[in-house]
Amino acid sequence: MRHLPLNLTRLMAASVAAIALIATPLSAAAQAAPTPEQMQATRAVTGELLKTLSGKLQASMKENGPAGSITVCQTIAPEIALGLADKTGWKITRVGTRVRNIDLGTPNVWQHKALGHLNADLKSGAKPETLEWSEVVTENGKPTLHYAKAIVLQTQCLACHGTAAQLAPGVAGKLKANYPQDQATGYAPGQLRGAVVISRPL
Ligand code: HEC
Repeated sequence: MRHLPLNLTRLMAASVAAIALIATPLSAAAQAAPTPEQMQATRAVTGELLKTLSGKLQASMKENGPAGSITVCQTIAPEIALGLADKTGWKITRVGTRVRNIDLGTPNVWQHKALGHLNADLKSGAKPETLEWSEVVTENGKPTLHYAKAIVLQTQCLACHGTAAQLAPGVAGKLKANYPQDQATGYAPGQLRGAVVISRPL
């Protein structure tokens, strides 16, 4: 007669513990997840950066040629990112799998991890246009979205990111002068060149 209630109590205690174990991570994750609107706004800023930069780069390539566009790239890319950072209050930058601008383009630990995920997804057939990776982390006690949108190399990038033979005339010399530690050549179309990365509070 004594055994039954004891076992029942234990069973109940075990069940409560099990439920608590399952419930804690779930509710924490649910709290920290970005809303669809927040994801959409983050993607929109990434899209704006890439579109604005691509427009300005193409215009300059037409007018000044690739070698004459190196400095445009150097000033305009960070300018666009800074402008969007000012507008949103978020951290926004571009990072590379192999880096040209070591000050702005070197990935931090999280960004390095994100590039690894993007590369793996790209290799298993993910579409470059929609390829992204994100994670919510707690920073200073607040949920922060880290987001990375893949930048995949296209044919028109080869003039400045291709093999030595593919670089446009004058580009190698300009790169050597402006980026003595440049690692960002030798890419082939379809390879992961880097990512636009955003850190923002939720
Ligand atoms: C006219 C030459 C030129 C062309 C064309 C060009 N880039 Fe670049 N790219 C640069 C320069 C210069 C930098 C360094 C910019 C800076 O100082 O922030 C750079 C930097 C980058 C970065 C930032 C990471 C890093 O290594 O510093 C990415 C990502 C990138 N380019 C991707 C591309 C892609 C994708 C294309 C084609 C759509 C492309 N680039 C076309 C010259 C070029």
